[in-house]
Amino acid sequence: MRNLNRKRLVTAGTFVSIGLLSATAWAQDSTNGRAVYDTTCVACHGDDGRGAFEGVPDLTRSDGRLLKSDDELFTNVREGFQSPGSMMGMPANGGNPSLSEQDVRDVIMFLREDFGDE
Ligand code: HEC
Repeated sequence: MRNLNRKRLVTAGTFVSIGLLSATAWAQDSTNGRAVYDTTCVACHGDDGRGAFEGVPDLTRSDGRLLKSDDELFTNVREGFQSPGSMMGMPANGGNPSLSEQDVRDVIMFLREDFGDE
């Protein structure tokens, strides 16, 4: 009986540590996402995500582009994107060839955190 309780305590401790570790990883990712946004995306999308000039979609709209899945947004940012009839397209990687796949994933997480509904 005593042994059993001890085992439970150890298990609970392990879960707490895993929780702390993933909280740290999340913070690092969205910090990188913000840095990517501020260097590569802000010129067109603006500080507040509403678009710096005409032709750039408002990313903060609750019925807007962020309704698309992470995978779809990832592909569109990575490869460039122009919707049918749109007056202006977005260049691949927002025009910054040095962005890694991880940078693009991080910046999408940042968009959702900062401009999304949640
Ligand atoms: C040169 C201007 C420009 C830059 C730089 C730029 N974008 Fe865009 N972005 C656009 C335009 C214009 C659209 C809308 C294209 C369309 O729908 O035809 C767009 C669309 C988007 C969309 C919606 C895509 C979809 O599937 O509807 C996302 C998400 C996005 N941009 C994120 C980013 C991120 C992240 C960066 C930085 C890595 C970035 N953009 C850099 C101009 C830009």
